[in-house]
Amino acid sequence: MNLRAVKGMNDILPEEMGKWAHVERIFRQTLELSGFREVRTPVVEDTSLFVRSMGEVTDVVEKEMYSFSRHDDELTLRPEGTAGAARAFLEHKVHSKEPLTRWYYIGPMFRGERPARGRYRQFWQAGAELYGDAGPVSDAEVIDMLAHLFTALGVKKFDVVINSLGGAPSRARYRDALIAYLTPHKASLSAESQRRLDRNPFRVLDSKAEIDRKICEDAPSILESLDDDDRAHFDALRRHLDALGTRYVVDPRMVRGLDYYTRTLFEIKGEGGELGAQNTLCGGGRYDNLIGDLGGPKTPCIGFAMGLERLLLATELPTEPRSNLVYVAPLGEAALPHALRLGRDLRARGVETIVDGKGQKIKNMLHRASALDARFAVLLGDSEIERGIVRVKDLRTEAQDDLPLAGAVTLLIDRLAAPVVGPAGTASGGPGPGDAGTP
Ligand code: HAM
Repeated sequence: MNLRAVKGMNDILPEEMGKWAHVERIFRQTLELSGFREVRTPVVEDTSLFVRSMGEVTDVVEKEMYSFSRHDDELTLRPEGTAGAARAFLEHKVHSKEPLTRWYYIGPMFRGERPARGRYRQFWQAGAELYGDAGPVSDAEVIDMLAHLFTALGVKKFDVVINSLGGAPSRARYRDALIAYLTPHKASLSAESQRRLDRNPFRVLDSKAEIDRKICEDAPSILESLDDDDRAHFDALRRHLDALGTRYVVDPRMVRGLDYYTRTLFEIKGEGGELGAQNTLCGGGRYDNLIGDLGGPKTPCIGFAMGLERLLLATELPTEPRSNLVYVAPLGEAALPHALRLGRDLRARGVETIVDGKGQKIKNMLHRASALDARFAVLLGDSEIERGIVRVKDLRTEAQDDLPLAGAVTLLIDRLAAPVVGPAGTASGGPGPGDAGTP
């Protein structure tokens, strides 16, 4: 039997969770300050939802979906969050209840890509979707919010890249221009791009094959195909970003791999840290036709998603604070009920506490306390109980003293809140008991 996780799918162990929780907390705070509310949709949807939303001739739909049949249904593990959120928005007729909807989500996504650093088969996205606002003010607001979020998350170096795909008439014009440019090069394109050229030439632009990239370097720019309205939208977006002081670069050949996009597109590219070639930390854009194409009323939308693993590779997060764990070590039958009560009372006051149920030898219990990086060990033997005291060992300084059993909870809380005084008399502030475990 193979006792390994599925290739490209990672465990996130408790010692890594502090960083994840930190990123998720800042993400939630930032989004909620801009009026977004959390939504949770299923991890599995009908396969047809993804095919219709993301487009049949896309890498994700053609090559990467985890699809299966069950009970006569054709199902797929979600490769992204936009399609499921749009389905939920329509199914619950949210458009008829509120004029403007701002949703965010955090969850695992699944794509059968070739695993590499920053590219996985199960990965986590934090994303958001904004329904019912045609922009460009909301486009600028979302992009500016992301720039602030990445700064708050400690990403030192990143670029905001923007482009516009225009609406349907502009895209049709660009499609023709692209086919006209690429057709004389057809024989030199990769086999996949040759196949895609007629059905979906935009996908040739995001081909990863070296030869395709070279040919696409001189492809016409979509910005030349934009009609007046699309151009005005893009110009206004740039003006709003300039007014906000949000720095960006325009990349007229960025088309972003999924078919539902219209008008504004953006990506945030990171640099440095442990980030390698997979440096697109976040991608998003406008998709004004998707809700209508899925059978709903025409609803302009914009959204984005960021890969949390990539984000963690790009950030330099502060190291975790030392734990404020109290380890209660009872030795003997008489001490046990006191230890259990002490543990319960400490937890009731917000102190993380473990009562050692294995007992037997003090040395072993202290060893377990140190291995768990506990701050204090509270030793209770039958003789201590008789004298109405507990022995407290500070595991940072090795200092020991006795406290009255009756007042032990309050005295321990005071000690947890006090700065740690090391053997050399150096003080380092620790978080209070209420902050236990939060970076
Ligand atoms: P996407 O560009 O396909 O867009 O993915 C968004 C982000 O998810 C990427 O920039 C990357 O950080 C992360 N990501 C994608 N694939 C992987 C992978 N295999 N391993 C690790 N991280 C990955 C979307 O998914 C759209 N739904 C975004 C959006 C929302 N557009 C509008 N609303």
